[in-house]
Amino acid sequence: TPTTLYDAHGRPLEYLRLAVTDRCNLRCFYCMPEEGIKYLPRHEVLSYEEMLRLTSIMTRLGVRKVRLTGGEPFVRRDLVPFISRLAELPGLRDINMTTNGVLTAPHVPTLAALGVRAINLSLDTLDRQRFFDITRRDELPAVLQTLEAVLKTGIQLKINAVVMDGRNIQDLVPLAELTRELPIEVRFIEEMPFNGGSHVATAESLPWNHRRIRQHLEAHLGPLLPAPAPAGATATEYSVAGHVGRIGIIAAYSRTFCGTCNRLRLTAEGSIKTCLYDQGGLDLRALLRQGESDETIAQALAQAFYHRAANGFEAERQRPTHQLNFESMATIGG
Ligand code: GTP
Ligand code: 5AD
Ligand code: SF4
Repeated sequence: TPTTLYDAHGRPLEYLRLAVTDRCNLRCFYCMPEEGIKYLPRHEVLSYEEMLRLTSIMTRLGVRKVRLTGGEPFVRRDLVPFISRLAELPGLRDINMTTNGVLTAPHVPTLAALGVRAINLSLDTLDRQRFFDITRRDELPAVLQTLEAVLKTGIQLKINAVVMDGRNIQDLVPLAELTRELPIEVRFIEEMPFNGGSHVATAESLPWNHRRIRQHLEAHLGPLLPAPAPAGATATEYSVAGHVGRIGIIAAYSRTFCGTCNRLRLTAEGSIKTCLYDQGGLDLRALLRQGESDETIAQALAQAFYHRAANGFEAERQRPTHQLNFESMATIGG
């Protein structure tokens, strides 16, 4: 029977963020520069076989929830057959995905049939021109098709909107208004400096922090009423009178989640980040490709998890600017 692994600070391992690729078909300016990031050569990316093996080891260490991320997961070939094999792993309760929705719509009915529980859709604006300005691709119609396709299924939908000064402030209320009629959660995210060096990161100042986002929304929608959120959640959740859906605010840059952090990240190249702010990480690909046993890999993982940073966020805050982590979110796996 599966056990739960705790780190030295009593935090459980429950949630794996699995990046199936570092590639993406959008170029969101808050994530990467126009020319893209330097992608990994194919042989440096874990095979699906390797990912299944590692995920299976992690379920034995207590992981119940897997989120497929990227890059953009659907850029990788044969993703759906991989998900169907993941769905067969004993011990996994939730398979969730974070996607930009460009290629997702045609797969949605299959995902529902496979039991995918929830999809987080990245969408920062409902305006086609601004979508283009932010993502550098004219793909809003495809993303909206994904939104509609998900709504026709029982898959839970969250929209992730990164809040960008001077870029999409006029979109916050229209996005939030989606929750009036739709049973979805729209989450507004503080911009983090994980942009692959695409622009100077706002290391000190954050023009739109969670408080300002909340005030802005309340001025237009009325009070945001705090609603219960699950332990370890990134978002503070709210309901609005008369709305069927929920609003979430993710204070990704001005508040620490470290105290309740329950997650691990496996990057596309097979390293484990025990914290979003880890630079480097435990190289599981090397262990796999050296032919190590499940036992040995599980022990290495458990060790790394046990010793993970108590408060990586604070540590990052105290580093001098030139030592900060400006990797792309696509490399980290979101
Ligand atoms: P749920 O499982 O639905 O709660 O999703 P999630 O918020 O864990 O994942 P998602 O991929 O939708 O990420 C939403 C935002 O939260 C992104 O901007 C992430 O980078 C950010 N985020 C995710 N995990 C962490 C974390 O451990 N620390 C911080 N600071 N931000 C995170
Ligand atoms: N700051 C905040 N959120 C970001 N995301 C990507 N880059 C950043 C950033 N620099 C979001 C994406 C996606 C999620 C995984 O992370 O919009 O929804
Ligand atoms: Fe792609 Fe997501 Fe990065 Fe946008 S934020 S470029 S959709 S990985």
